[in-house]
Amino acid sequence: MSETILVTGGAGYIGSHTTLALLEAGYEVVVLDNLCNSSPESLQRVARICGKQAEFIQGDIRDRVLLDELFASKNISAVLHFAGLKAVGESVAKPLSYYENNVAGSVTLCQAMAHAGVYRLVFSSSATVYGEPTQMPIREDFPTGIPTNPYGRSKLMVEELLQDLARSEPRWSIALLRYFNPVGAHTSGLIGEDPNGIPNNLLPYISQVAIGKLKQLSVFGNDYATVDGTGVRDYIHVQDLADGHLKALQTIAGDSGVKIWNLGTGQGYSVLQMVQAFEKASGQPVPYQLVPRRPGDIAECWADPAKAAAELGWKATRGLEEMMSDTWRWQSANPQGYAH
Ligand code: NAD
Ligand code: UFG
Repeated sequence: MSETILVTGGAGYIGSHTTLALLEAGYEVVVLDNLCNSSPESLQRVARICGKQAEFIQGDIRDRVLLDELFASKNISAVLHFAGLKAVGESVAKPLSYYENNVAGSVTLCQAMAHAGVYRLVFSSSATVYGEPTQMPIREDFPTGIPTNPYGRSKLMVEELLQDLARSEPRWSIALLRYFNPVGAHTSGLIGEDPNGIPNNLLPYISQVAIGKLKQLSVFGNDYATVDGTGVRDYIHVQDLADGHLKALQTIAGDSGVKIWNLGTGQGYSVLQMVQAFEKASGQPVPYQLVPRRPGDIAECWADPAKAAAELGWKATRGLEEMMSDTWRWQSANPQGYAH
């Protein structure tokens, strides 16, 4: 019999791509999502792509009664935990929402897991926990830094509480996956990133400029010590990221303690390189203006992906061109996201 995996936040951007990868690999999937930042349409599309359906439960990770019922009625063997809030600016304005959803929500989830005897957990962390590293590329053994906002602090807090939890009970087997910058969409163009309102992140912003929804991109700073003065990041295709989750899930089975892996490509690109690559892939102009730096941004950030390669047997395989053409396919086929 195949394993059943609980995917919290499975209707969202990364969760929906990972749900698809799990279904394609033969797992049964239960998605728990409160839909605060997603549409159930994403899971309908997942079913269209692979011909298999995840079971969807609309609910909240902070709801202990619901979680207890869920674990009692489904034979869950592991949890992929994506649910949470992720907008950096909003986290400054509404810190309590971030600590409640991301930190308290994770505590409640872990309590329900322990109660049900489910001890295998894969957590969506972020390269933001490294703070402002002085050396590139970033390795997992670099010290964690001081995140500059409540969102980043909430991710670091959850990492630390999961470390404490694993020290207290050896049955826990936990993966902390530190994502670099997830971009792209499934090659079918049926699922992708569908941000609420005006996007905060670079690629969704660029693609909405290309489609004509937004007038021009603001490039935040061109005076960094980088190749062309603009910020450099390690962009990783969401399908590669999804594959990394499956490898982590399998690798920590039967294990004990906490393992940490960077999920990145090891290659950095500047904002202007991203603009150029997107124009090339889409055939559309992406007008931009240079504006001052965005507070809290670092100059550059890219991963050393060697540990994930050695221990997970996983490597990102999709390059910049594929990230751009898949983003464009999704954006042009779904100009209003899942709304139409
Ligand atoms: P997303 O907003 O698309 O997905 C998160 C999902 O969780 C949404 O469907 C939302 O409705 C759901 N959710 C939020 N709070 C919930 C709650 N209390 N109970 C139940 N469901 C809830 O975001 P994403 O980009 O897919 O990110 C997934 C995870 O990866 C998040 O934890 C995020 O912090 C982390 N992450 C994302 C990035 C990125 O750039 N996208 C980078 C690093 C880490
Ligand atoms: N940028 C612009 N204009 C925009 C948006 C972004 O110039 O309109 C620039 C930024 O200054 C940065 C780069 O594009 O140099 C990438 O910015 P994003 O906002 O897309 O991504 P960040 O690296 O700032 O942050 C992302 C996630 C965070 C996560 C962090 C570290 O949004 O949640 O990566 O993993 F914490």
